[in-house]
Amino acid sequence: MGLDMGISSAVGLVLATLLLGVLIMKLRARLALSRAKHRSLGGHARLSRRIAALVPGYSYDDAHFFCADDATSEVAGRRRAEFERLARLFRTSGARTLEQTAEATPRISDLQFTEAYRVPYQFSRLVKAKLPAASFLASSDGVTVTDLDGNARYDLSGSYGVNLLGYDFYKACMDRGARRVSALGPVLGSYPSLVADNVARLARISGKAEVSFHMSGTEAVMQAVRLARYHTGRSHLVRFCGAYHGWWGDVQPGVGNPVPAHDTYTLADMSEATLDVLRRRTDIACVLVNPLQALHPNLGAPADSTLIHSRPDASVDRAAYGQWLKQLRAVCSERGIVLIFDEVFVGFRLAAGGAQEYFGVDADIVTYGKTVGGGFPVGVVCGHHRFMKRFRDDRPADICFARGTFNSHPYVMAAMNEFLLHLDGPEMRALYRDLDATWDRRTASLNRRLGELGLPLEVAHLSSIWTVCHTQASRYNWMFQYYLRAEGLALSWVGTGRLIFSLNYTDADFEAVAQRFIAAAEAMKRGGWWETGALGTDRAIKRRILREMLGHYVAPWKSGSGRPESHSPNGVVGPGHLSTSREHGSAQTSP
Ligand SMILES: Cc1ncc(COP(=O)(O)O)c(C=O)c1O
Repeated sequence: MGLDMGISSAVGLVLATLLLGVLIMKLRARLALSRAKHRSLGGHARLSRRIAALVPGYSYDDAHFFCADDATSEVAGRRRAEFERLARLFRTSGARTLEQTAEATPRISDLQFTEAYRVPYQFSRLVKAKLPAASFLASSDGVTVTDLDGNARYDLSGSYGVNLLGYDFYKACMDRGARRVSALGPVLGSYPSLVADNVARLARISGKAEVSFHMSGTEAVMQAVRLARYHTGRSHLVRFCGAYHGWWGDVQPGVGNPVPAHDTYTLADMSEATLDVLRRRTDIACVLVNPLQALHPNLGAPADSTLIHSRPDASVDRAAYGQWLKQLRAVCSERGIVLIFDEVFVGFRLAAGGAQEYFGVDADIVTYGKTVGGGFPVGVVCGHHRFMKRFRDDRPADICFARGTFNSHPYVMAAMNEFLLHLDGPEMRALYRDLDATWDRRTASLNRRLGELGLPLEVAHLSSIWTVCHTQASRYNWMFQYYLRAEGLALSWVGTGRLIFSLNYTDADFEAVAQRFIAAAEAMKRGGWWETGALGTDRAIKRRILREMLGHYVAPWKSGSGRPESHSPNGVVGPGHLSTSREHGSAQTSP
């Protein structure tokens, strides 16, 4: 009896010790994961969704709009006059385009969304009324686009990054390609013969053996991740804080996605703690890298809608980022994790062999999209055979399914072939050889001139991709997008956060843009938008906004009248209800 009790208590002790050991290990893994998250809200998907849901909707009334930083009445008056001037200018020069936009917007949900997120939401009401977007275009030519009223502007929108070589180049790809497959037409399920050439060229560019075609960059990323999960038998993907990989739920775990992404770890970029997690955990199938993050590691795609103060310097440290990617490569190889380079945006923009060549790192799978469609929508996955195979010879029912009605559409494949053929020509080789030097020189020259003129702006760039950094705290930095528009520069809806040049910009074209950029900045300066009142630091601005938000919860006018909008004594207009995260969260934006 005594012996039995001794044995069972010894067994109990061993079990308890084992249990404790397991618990400690789990706790350690959990702590390591927490340490590997970036400290910003972007690194905490669940928390950011909760906070976004609490952000109250309110906007400034007509008077407060111009002195939200406590500027003097003289400065506020100058701002108001400028605002009215810009409104008149856009109204008179772009009447037809504005009219069509106003007519279409109630029926195009995309337009309603982008219109709501061009500026920080407190300012949005008046901006929408007075400086509405003009969202229709009639034509493109060289490096310009022309609206319905005949206004030609230098295109810095880059069509979300698609426009690498100039719109005329893609028109030619689409026309020539269409002629080459016109006999086949829209037949799907079999391939036009030029697909074989596409595959051979993409395999060579990517350094991978196999290729699959999809309809968008988002779908290419979905397939790459699905393949990684299939081949590793693991559940989780790792993405880096701030990185955009399309709008599929698993790669967008925070604000903007109504449901949580359970199998995604969002970790800090360029962080030793992240490497530690990759070394320890056994549930990680793949690591997704968007090399554009070299421009702003751990930050989301910059947009003017979140530009509530300054935007920090975002200069690229190519050597450091390359070194980080090499470390990632080594850990992924060591741990059997699939390293995926998502080159949907930067592919073909940095070097002939894409970001892999630019940073000197060989990924397991690479996704491409945007420009490689030669003007048409596309997504491409390139990978080694062992990652691309979708079935097992010894387990016939264990497959990795992937389809898509319009994958490999003849017209897309033909335009892609035109693009890839051009890529191999001597002209492109010369372009790539001088690419970095060209864009370094152009950017440096503009920055020097901005500095000499005492303008609080600087441009950071990754090759031909720009971010405008506002070096001075101001509640009105987002106004700069309207000055650029007035000077004949066309931006995408994220405004000064992302300017994208096509590589057919000559030095003369660039000089014209630089002069307009400077003229816009000087006009903005004269308008008084950078003459900050009491709110001259980022910290003071953040504190004021926090106070306004808290005030919204406690102010009596908040819940009172039931009118759609009600005014507070401090010039803040409340909508009479609290917003949802979808209305006012800092929605993730595609670059
Ligand atoms: C890096 C990256 N991946 C994926 C996507 C999604 O591509 P698409 O918009 O064609 O679905 C984008 C789009 O901007 C992107 O920049």
